[in-house]
Amino acid sequence: MIDETVLDAASRYVQTFFGDDATGHDWHHMVRVRRLAERIAVQEGADRGIVALAALLHDVDDAKLSPATSDDLGNARAFLANWDISPADAAAVLTAIREVSFSKNGATPPSTREAACVRDADRLDAIGAIGVARAFAFGGAHGRALHDPDGGDRSATTAHFHDKLLKLKDLMCTDAGREIAVARDAVTRGFLDEFLLEWEGER
Ligand code: ADP
Ligand code: NI
Repeated sequence: MIDETVLDAASRYVQTFFGDDATGHDWHHMVRVRRLAERIAVQEGADRGIVALAALLHDVDDAKLSPATSDDLGNARAFLANWDISPADAAAVLTAIREVSFSKNGATPPSTREAACVRDADRLDAIGAIGVARAFAFGGAHGRALHDPDGGDRSATTAHFHDKLLKLKDLMCTDAGREIAVARDAVTRGFLDEFLLEWEGER
């Protein structure tokens, strides 16, 4: 059982940790993933406290942001050790965090219901209106082109849509996540269609 005090502390921790990171990992990402993951958890009958805590902490050991701790989840472990959390709960949180990463887990199914909720929520935050905004924020922060009409520049932000974002709907692990993904995916595709029409001066 994860109590509210721990969740409040985790919220404060990630607010300090991520601050206003401009690459799509500002702390509001953690807040949104928590909200969505809890919504999915209710529908999936998963443990809401574990899901909420894992969602808040899911990027503190991200390989890009904290390479030194990404293997042992050192930052999440250190946070969990500071609070009165049972070993079973701490292990469940760490499992969910470990199984979120797209690059590490790809299409391998999560081993627990809680991990599935957090993974789906993290991926959902990369599609739909928010996902489109995050992709261009990431591209801007890295000085990348919006679009390469010849398709040769794979670092252009629209290439990321094809490389990753348009695939996420079919990688959902929960029914609740899939339902939300269908709506968000339509928004992503609608945006891309409109973007390309405007690019060509057809609209
Ligand atoms: P997370 O694991 O939290 O989804 P990522 O590091 O995979 O984090 O991505 C963070 C955000 O940056 C996502 O919204 C993702 O779509 C976006 N992003 C990552 N790589 C690119 C890229 N090459 N071009 C545009 N956006 C990107
Ligand atoms: Ni994330």
